[in-house]
Amino acid sequence: MLKLLIANKNELSKVLIFAKRYRPDITLPWLSKWIDKIVVAKENGKIVGAALCSFGDETFIHFVTANTWENLVELVRSLLDTAFKTGSTKIRTFIPANQINLQISLTKLGFEFEGILRKSMLDADGKFIDVISMCKWSPAILEIPIHTTEPLEFYIRPYKSDDYDKILELSKDAFPGEDPFEDAELIEEISKEDPELNLIALDSNSNIVGGIFAWEWSPRNAWIYLLAVLHSAQGHHIGTSLLKKLEENAKRKGVIRLQVDTDADNFPAVLFYLKNEFEFEFREIAVPNRKGRNVDDVIFSKSI
Ligand SMILES: CC(C)(COP(=O)(O)OP(=O)(O)OC[C@H]1O[C@@H](n2cnc3c(N)ncnc32)[C@H](O)[C@@H]1OP(=O)(O)O)[C@@H](O)C(=O)NCCC(=O)NCCS
Repeated sequence: MLKLLIANKNELSKVLIFAKRYRPDITLPWLSKWIDKIVVAKENGKIVGAALCSFGDETFIHFVTANTWENLVELVRSLLDTAFKTGSTKIRTFIPANQINLQISLTKLGFEFEGILRKSMLDADGKFIDVISMCKWSPAILEIPIHTTEPLEFYIRPYKSDDYDKILELSKDAFPGEDPFEDAELIEEISKEDPELNLIALDSNSNIVGGIFAWEWSPRNAWIYLLAVLHSAQGHHIGTSLLKKLEENAKRKGVIRLQVDTDADNFPAVLFYLKNEFEFEFREIAVPNRKGRNVDDVIFSKSI
């Protein structure tokens, strides 16, 4: 069990180590100005985490880090409780664009990508770097489905027109409630232009288990229209293998960049793209989707 306490002056240099992991621009003089608002998490008297928040209508987390994932969750949970109980509607934080692991941790805690601020923070070498803004609108920390890792045999090949019904099956499974024909029709069309960028994965009985479908929408720039893995086959790195094969084929065609969009709160997909070295580009507000609801969309890209 963690003990959460207000930091004292003698602890500032230890807190700085935690703060810098989150935001390299933070300095000791800056930290000392906030001494009465810094929370330290202690285990057996030892500092194992630290956080600084400005609570308000919109709460801002200056930094929050801990030595383990469990301690980080406990610390964040207590900040979220305080923020939402005292009337906050939103929690925001800024982190360096190159800190993918931090972005993964925050996504797992239910934070969404909100925007990017160009050259807005100093890194450890004093250079200006891009900053990502991430937000959370509710105190709940989502349970993201468990990832399985048992081996599953599959192979990948280009999509053919005969596979039309397989796409219907895949789309129905991966995007329940949406119109599978829209996917199948578009894939039929784009696969004619770029057969190497439209790939499906099949199991040893030739049942479809996944697919990735892209087209070169502008010179040297390919857009991934759809990536889906059957629910029962998720977690076996089929998505990663499809993406790798697509990257290989795209590179051969002279493509240098891949782009993709997904619902801002599709946490498994966001985690998938971050894990596969995609970077957040921007958030598009209230995009009408095929279920008829307006959802925000986030766009990621990767240089290949
Ligand atoms: C997103 C999707 C394609 C991932 O496919 P997958 O084959 O299950 O993913 P992989 O096994 O290759 O996962 C690669 C990495 O992504 C991350 N990831 C993928 N799914 C995750 C999940 N549910 N929870 C947490 N992390 C996840 C993990 O970091 C994983 O690496 P790890 O297993 O080494 O930790 C699949 O979940 C899917 O089809 N979802 C429904 C359709 C969809 O949302 N498509 C994307 C919209 S554009």
